[in-house]
Amino acid sequence: MNDGHDLAAAGTGTRLAHIARDPRAQHGFVNTPIHRGSTVLFPTLDALEGAMRVDSRTGPYIYGLMGNPNSRELETMLARLDGGAGAVVVESGLAAVSVPLLACLGSGDHLLMTDSCYGPTRHLCNAVLPRMGVETTFYDPRAGAGIEALIRPSTRAIFMESPGSLTFEVQDVPAIARVARARGVTTIIDNTWATPLCFRPLDHGVDLVVHALTKYQSGNSDILLGAVVARDDAHWRRVKQCAEVHGHYAHPDDCATCLRGIRSLEVRLARHASTALEVARFLESRAEVARMLHPALPSHPDHALWRRDFAGASGLFGCVLRPHPRGRAFLKDFLERLRLFGMGFSWGGFESLIVASDVRASRTAPPWTDEGALLRLQIGLEDPRDLIADLAQALDAAGG
Ligand SMILES: Cc1ncc(COP(=O)(O)O)c(C=O)c1O
Repeated sequence: MNDGHDLAAAGTGTRLAHIARDPRAQHGFVNTPIHRGSTVLFPTLDALEGAMRVDSRTGPYIYGLMGNPNSRELETMLARLDGGAGAVVVESGLAAVSVPLLACLGSGDHLLMTDSCYGPTRHLCNAVLPRMGVETTFYDPRAGAGIEALIRPSTRAIFMESPGSLTFEVQDVPAIARVARARGVTTIIDNTWATPLCFRPLDHGVDLVVHALTKYQSGNSDILLGAVVARDDAHWRRVKQCAEVHGHYAHPDDCATCLRGIRSLEVRLARHASTALEVARFLESRAEVARMLHPALPSHPDHALWRRDFAGASGLFGCVLRPHPRGRAFLKDFLERLRLFGMGFSWGGFESLIVASDVRASRTAPPWTDEGALLRLQIGLEDPRDLIADLAQALDAAGG
């Protein structure tokens, strides 16, 4: 298998096409067949005992739960893209959030969690971690180096999500990672929005990177999958062990499907990003919109930070509508009149989606004060003119 080390200087498209493939080992076929299976047989006792002693990133396969050729290829690709020592694939993006937290935290520990985190991540902190004796403080995503004031002797981990996948604040990741490292605190980031093509957190001092591969990497809204990429061997071992003892697993079918998606990630992401920017500019021009939440727009308060740290954007952004005299009836009319935007959760697929959410009850640092509806748009691979026309007709019809 090409582990990608010799492609370090190659362009992104070349790396996506060639890392983690070994046609010679597959009778010349370009892609690796799916290896479904639980049991792996060993010819001798020495071989069985020897396999138990070696690293599962490169050693013989032991048992389906611990890895198979398809999960190993995907992990190799992910580790190379992020510049990490290793990756661990699991069955969903949410499992990729919970595993590193459970790997790092124990009774008496304190966690700093960005207040802009994905909803179920917040729920994990509020509903599960307290039962383990872990206390969470939700911090202002824009805290930057000021996060130091929140670090306690018991703080073990700082979790970031940048930009937040509903409210789109960009975090000063290098500043937070610097402070954390000086204080011996592990840093974890959910980097699903950017993918390693737009932002590589390990280059900025972060220890563990979370990906919901369900989104852009797979790209077709047809699987759930997640991964954690570790900066070094010690972090990789901790995460791998935690995933295994909890029985986390990624199905080989899903790993192969995701790897197929990653091969075309660069071209898809560029299209998602350019269409999203066009659509966002259109929305910014509409009277119904109070403010846009897209870091690539100069009007975004974190635009300078985004320009400093990111190589690009993806296709997910938000906006806040002006409060409307008809309230929810206007929102319902608008959303239900859309023909090309589906109403539903998730993102990163070829099709455009829209959801309305209300974060006023959950946000504390700082509280969310906007009165108008918060919308999130996932821009797919459709023609931008058609998406803009769809939004225009729905806004016009609902407003009238
Ligand atoms: C930022 C972010 N992280 C993690 C997840 C979880 O991914 P999954 O749906 O694969 O569990 C999501 C899902 O929407 C997400 O938006």
